[in-house]
Amino acid sequence: MTTQKTLTIIKPDAVGKNAIGEIIHRFELSGFTIVAMSMERLTKERAEGFYKVHKEKPFFGELVEFMTSGPCVPMVLEKENAIDDLRTLIGVTDSTKAASGTIRQNFGMDIQCNAVHASDSVENAGFEVNYFFPDIKV
Ligand code: CMP
Repeated sequence: MTTQKTLTIIKPDAVGKNAIGEIIHRFELSGFTIVAMSMERLTKERAEGFYKVHKEKPFFGELVEFMTSGPCVPMVLEKENAIDDLRTLIGVTDSTKAASGTIRQNFGMDIQCNAVHASDSVENAGFEVNYFFPDIKV
């Protein structure tokens, strides 16, 4: 197993619920090291650029509106097998279907307002980490 970096974002819905601390605590309890972290309110252009793979999806406009609705907290997490392990910890995209005890089940509301984002592949983790933290070597 190799050490990996992955990008997560605590989304505006979870920030609005004052859940930043609890979500970070879960990351740390699960063995992730925080390598970088910031807080920013995404502009439309920045949200569109981050989610460009979804540009043709019917939910793209709503997604960009949601992600620009308030501040979010992007961060880089590191551990062995970080990409898959983080996706297990957060649960599936639709919060109403996420497994019991996952971050999305506990803090998300539906398929869009799902509390957190996590990179889904090594390739995307590289792009996403450097989208927010260009100085970090992935
Ligand atoms: P995320 O893991 O950040 O990746 C893309 C995001 O688009 C996803 O979480 C949701 O916030 C949103 N999303 C995915 N599918 C849908 C959908 N069917 N309807 C609305 N939003 C969606």
